[in-house]
Amino acid sequence: MTRILFVCLGNICRSPMAEFIFRDLAAKAGLAQAFEVASAGTSSEEYGNPVYPPARRKLAEHGISCAGKTARQLTRADYGAYDLLIGMEAHHLAAMRRICGGDPAGKMHRLLDYTGQPADIADPWYTRDFDTAWTQIESGCRALLEHLTRDKEGI
Ligand code: 4NP
Repeated sequence: MTRILFVCLGNICRSPMAEFIFRDLAAKAGLAQAFEVASAGTSSEEYGNPVYPPARRKLAEHGISCAGKTARQLTRADYGAYDLLIGMEAHHLAAMRRICGGDPAGKMHRLLDYTGQPADIADPWYTRDFDTAWTQIESGCRALLEHLTRDKEGI
């Protein structure tokens, strides 16, 4: 079992999209039981709020429900509770290290660093471009799943 926490700023757009996309990809690969997946924000701004409607609609277009998810803030305890903490932008990684007291076990990574096109994922809450967010997050999740399952048949 690999425990993955996706992290963005507000936990209402990018990290919940990553959480539900990754879970969907894992389930379709017959690996639902191999992963525990969740998401959190570096900010408490959106605490308790549901996934932002345009992000929810983008997931729904692809047959993915995010019902029941509400935003929460990353805590220091998450560092021990998860094997991987995956941020969307380089500056999230800095905030994640601040909140968790560093990253001594090397658990923190940026999502698109698993792809051939390492980059930050721009915030669709500001850009309004949920199509690009979907494309980038989906490619990152695919690459992460591939990375975690490579050479590990039957995990
Ligand atoms: P997210 O987007 O980090 O992808 O969830 C944002 C949502 C809310 C805010 C910023 C970014 N905000 O400032 O409230």
